[in-house]
Amino acid sequence: MRKPFVAGNWKMNTDSRTGVELAEKIVSATQQIAGRTVDVALCPPFVYLQSVVGALSSSSIAVGAQDIYIETKGAFTGEISASMLKDIGCIYVLCGHSERRHVIGEPDELVGKKVTAAISGGLLPILCVGELLAEREADQTIEVVTRQIKTGLAGLGAEKLSAVTLAYEPVWAIGTGLTATPQQAQDVHSFIRELLGRMYDNRLAEQIRILYGGSAKPGNAADLMSQQDIDGLLVGGASLKADDFVAIIQAAVKE
Ligand code: 13P
Repeated sequence: MRKPFVAGNWKMNTDSRTGVELAEKIVSATQQIAGRTVDVALCPPFVYLQSVVGALSSSSIAVGAQDIYIETKGAFTGEISASMLKDIGCIYVLCGHSERRHVIGEPDELVGKKVTAAISGGLLPILCVGELLAEREADQTIEVVTRQIKTGLAGLGAEKLSAVTLAYEPVWAIGTGLTATPQQAQDVHSFIRELLGRMYDNRLAEQIRILYGGSAKPGNAADLMSQQDIDGLLVGGASLKADDFVAIIQAAVKE
């Protein structure tokens, strides 16, 4: 069985004090379950990673970064490598989040190189995929998700696939309050698993965790998690409120 996994993407929010306070509250409220019945990760902004690693040091909650660069070191002003993130205690890294694809303009190929660089540097990538509203309305969801996954995992051998978590985040549901219905999300998740089965093999595809993201909140977390192929949640706005995020983590535990 796939262990549920809830990750909080803080995006460009918090400051040095509120970030640590948020992490501490989440640690104390999830001591019984985090790392046991549900895996939990927090993804703060780069500059607060190290202090959040410190705040989580006595817990089983992992830290993730929101992005990386594809090279290991050198003249790449402003960029941060996988090995640097690993060095300060990061475990996960988001690759190809929709805001990086659609606000910053990251192409699919670059995202694929980031997934490979993350694994080479010892991090566990969370590859984010998802369609725009116009793409859903034009019935292109499957096409877009297929392209993003095939390019995102390009060149990745089967022996490395288990390092990857997938996150399906329909762009129209991110930060909008519009959540995909559990059935809409399940349909895409089961398609993704089938696609991974075709690209690799069914046994491996059954082991990969596929998270849903897009206006996940305490009120819809259990319904989303009740779906067979939804293995966890990637949470934006609600991960900034300790009580809400803790309630989502609790709702994600599948008995
Ligand atoms: P919201 O939960 O704020 O919709 O954000 C989702 C997201 O982008 C997580 O990565």
